Amino acid sequence: MKDRMPRQLSRRAFLGTTGKIALGVTAALTGTTGLFYYGAKTHKSNAESEAKVEQRPGNIADLGSHEELAALTEMTKIHYEAEYVDAWYTKPLRGFVYVTKDENGQLLILSPACTHLGCSVEPATTGQRAKTKGLVLFCPCHGAEFGKFGETVSTVVPRGLDTFEPIIAGGRVYFDAMQPIQRSEST
Ligand code: FES
Repeated sequence: MKDRMPRQLSRRAFLGTTGKIALGVTAALTGTTGLFYYGAKTHKSNAESEAKVEQRPGNIADLGSHEELAALTEMTKIHYEAEYVDAWYTKPLRGFVYVTKDENGQLLILSPACTHLGCSVEPATTGQRAKTKGLVLFCPCHGAEFGKFGETVSTVVPRGLDTFEPIIAGGRVYFDAMQPIQRSEST
């Protein structure tokens, strides 16, 4: 599995990007190509998603070039840096996600937080894979197992890994690090 280090998105850079997002939405509405804003999992409207992002710029993490990520052929661990901002304080957010493609070839951003008690899941070893069909990510704490789309493939947990909505703008892929999307059980 590949492992990439972060590119931090400054508030200034992000605000520049959101301006481009607005242009992209306008372009899409007028039928031209260019920037676009994409909600693969929640299918929110462009305007709704854009408004959400503009309210929470510090939480938005940059995962890298859309072109490069769209060409991924294997799950990749990508580290990110962002900021948690609320009315009282701001603190740095650092972490990583697993990025892959879903059944339809769309970008899929997986949280590494195990849905049992929150330990970080890791790529399964060859030996672990041999024991469980479809195993890709393994939790070292109590043995939860997840497949190539983050779905649960064991009885330890009933729910697969949370995902994040990919935000594509200005040729890059972003996500809101504070907005994980929970799956329903048995997925
Ligand atoms: S925290 Fe992952 S199995 Fe318990």
